[in-house]
Amino acid sequence: MTAPAARPAGIRISGTGMAVPPRKVSNDDLSKIVDTSDEWIRPRTGIVTRHLSDNGTLTSDLAAEAVSQAIQNAGLKPTDLDLLICATMTPDMICPATACRVVEKIGAVPCGAMDVNLACTGLVAGLSIAANFIQSGAYKNVAVIGADRLSTIVNWEDRKTCVLFGDAAGAVVVSASDNPRQQCLFQKLNSDGGMGEALYVPRNEQDIPEAGRDSFNGKFDTLQMNGREVFKFAVNALKECVREALDQTGLTHDDIKMVIPHQSNIRMLTSAWKKMGFPDDKIYINIDRFGNTSAASIGLCLHELTEQGRLEEGDHVIFVAQGGGLTWGASLWRL
Ligand code: ACO
Repeated sequence: MTAPAARPAGIRISGTGMAVPPRKVSNDDLSKIVDTSDEWIRPRTGIVTRHLSDNGTLTSDLAAEAVSQAIQNAGLKPTDLDLLICATMTPDMICPATACRVVEKIGAVPCGAMDVNLACTGLVAGLSIAANFIQSGAYKNVAVIGADRLSTIVNWEDRKTCVLFGDAAGAVVVSASDNPRQQCLFQKLNSDGGMGEALYVPRNEQDIPEAGRDSFNGKFDTLQMNGREVFKFAVNALKECVREALDQTGLTHDDIKMVIPHQSNIRMLTSAWKKMGFPDDKIYINIDRFGNTSAASIGLCLHELTEQGRLEEGDHVIFVAQGGGLTWGASLWRL
């Protein structure tokens, strides 16, 4: 019988990385494809530009680039990873998992691999899975990637959805730490499949709910969204997640260095953080440059904050997201 794995003293975010495709697309560029305008998109969503990939780029390519950077920033080698989690709703293929392809691309075979499909909540879920594997003592280094190319699953004739999204990957390496103060202090994941039809990708006729027949955009395998429903739901979900994180940890707004939300829509986030009682400078926003990048967005924010030197050991940060499913969740970390 093997001895049970020793639990580490602490757990830390040891490296971050990000990747976006080179092609930058402005709202004016989109107005040449669909009947839209910068005047409509910018005030309603906060988006100014987004990066869109070309056909030759795979989700696993963006993921591999982002995670290679995160591994390097953590001072590790690919073969130091015990597990690689790829959160995506736009996998290269249904099988094999995109995570397996990334493990191979970065030279980390035979690292464990799994995909998580929770739309925009995927990276928060991946961080929780990583935290639990490390806290149990089973693993020392787990990579979590959020990678999506929503440009491949929007209907480019549907102006209600195609203007909202960008392609990207954000990566985080989570590692065991000798410092007991470094911890994931709170984690919570939620879902409500009854609200799934507010944001879904039907494969055929039978996937379209009765109530969604009128709003179906006419193309299977593309994103269908009831923007107003998602908006209403998300404001409350974000607020409740953050309240629960503070209640359960006994921390106050003053104790939190940064809230890092999924970048869904600036109006939605503004409304949520006003209700939460956080000042503007504690909420990180980069939707203006990248659009909604689904599972990747929180990874992009964390990487930018880290690169800007705005996070220090001992800081408390909250990751919070909502997405298709519907799903929502948060985790609170002491760095
Ligand atoms: N350009 C110009 N006009 C547009 C566009 C566009 N890109 N999109 C919609 N319109 C028009 C519509 O056709 C409609 O016109 P009509 O009144 O003549 O029929 C009008 O604008 C209003 O359309 P709505 O869809 O009702 O627009 P709304 O005010 O709800 O704004 C938006 C849409 C921005 C998506 C909003 O609902 C929203 O922020 N929802 C939150 C959901 C969200 O952010 N989803 C993305 C994230 S999903 C996730 O993260 C998991």
